[in-house]
Amino acid sequence: MSARPLHFATIGGDGIGPEVIAKAVAWAQGVLDAQGIEARWTHLDLGADRYLRDGTTLDDATFAFLRDEVDGILLGALGDPRVPSNQHAKDILLGLRFRLDLYVNFRPIVCPSDDVCPLKGKTAADIDMVVFRENTEGLYTGVGGQFKRGTPDEVSIEAELNTRKGVERILRAAFVYADTHGRRSVCMADKANAMRHGHDLWQRAFAEVAAEYPHIRAFHRYVDVLAMEMVSSPETYDVIVTNNLFGDILTDLGAALQGGIGRAASANLHPGKRPGLFEPVHGSAPDLVGTGLADPTAAIESARLMLESVGVEVPG
Ligand code: IPM
Ligand code: MG
Repeated sequence: MSARPLHFATIGGDGIGPEVIAKAVAWAQGVLDAQGIEARWTHLDLGADRYLRDGTTLDDATFAFLRDEVDGILLGALGDPRVPSNQHAKDILLGLRFRLDLYVNFRPIVCPSDDVCPLKGKTAADIDMVVFRENTEGLYTGVGGQFKRGTPDEVSIEAELNTRKGVERILRAAFVYADTHGRRSVCMADKANAMRHGHDLWQRAFAEVAAEYPHIRAFHRYVDVLAMEMVSSPETYDVIVTNNLFGDILTDLGAALQGGIGRAASANLHPGKRPGLFEPVHGSAPDLVGTGLADPTAAIESARLMLESVGVEVPG
């Protein structure tokens, strides 16, 4: 526990983001109060409204404040029909992931009870896995370009970036987690049967890192097979490690396994460093604003991950 009071920042963002974050902050404050832990909260006015008002997405001063002053950032949701380019979401969400080098996107998939388990013949006990999604590379870096845009001869290239360092560190994070949390296995998912360069790197790095953890079962699935088996035999999966885009897709599938996107939490982390960025997997759901139907569970579970990341023990 740090000597100075904990300091958290929130970014409510768009749509239902501010509503679910208000509930998550109230919940977290209750946990902190019960343990006599002092904490400050700074609520940042960032999101589509701010962007439309003065053009700010994530300014340098706010970024420096987040980087240097806070222990965790709790983010609601970003996405607004008035900003079709999604520029603010790219700058704030992806900007924080990249600029803080939060290379682990940690997404637990836990089904809370049998009655919300959507799979016939399965129970909540069959669904208990954690996805380690690589969060700073892959198809999310914007490397590429367009040539003759808007003409019939247009060429648009989106390059998938895989570095030895980046691949190795997410693989290692998955094994370290499995090792320290009593998990039985780590499954690495790629598409090496079609993608010969980048995913060959994943294959080689996985074999090397797995060899350092001989007591943990390491196995591989092509991502399409994994998507099928997460539905047909979820009990097979424990820790899953994969690249940025595949992790994005698989964790929406995972959200459905948990009984809905309103329950899926995530932590963007650079192990050993603060702040992490904590956010529900869901979007801004503009149609639910003010209806009282927005489920705050994912935001609360994300706040739980934030408290745990700074050493607060959360009961339950
Ligand atoms: C997520 C979201 C984001 C992503 C979007 C909003 C850019 O889908 O956190 O899963 O693709 O990472
Ligand atoms: Mg997603």
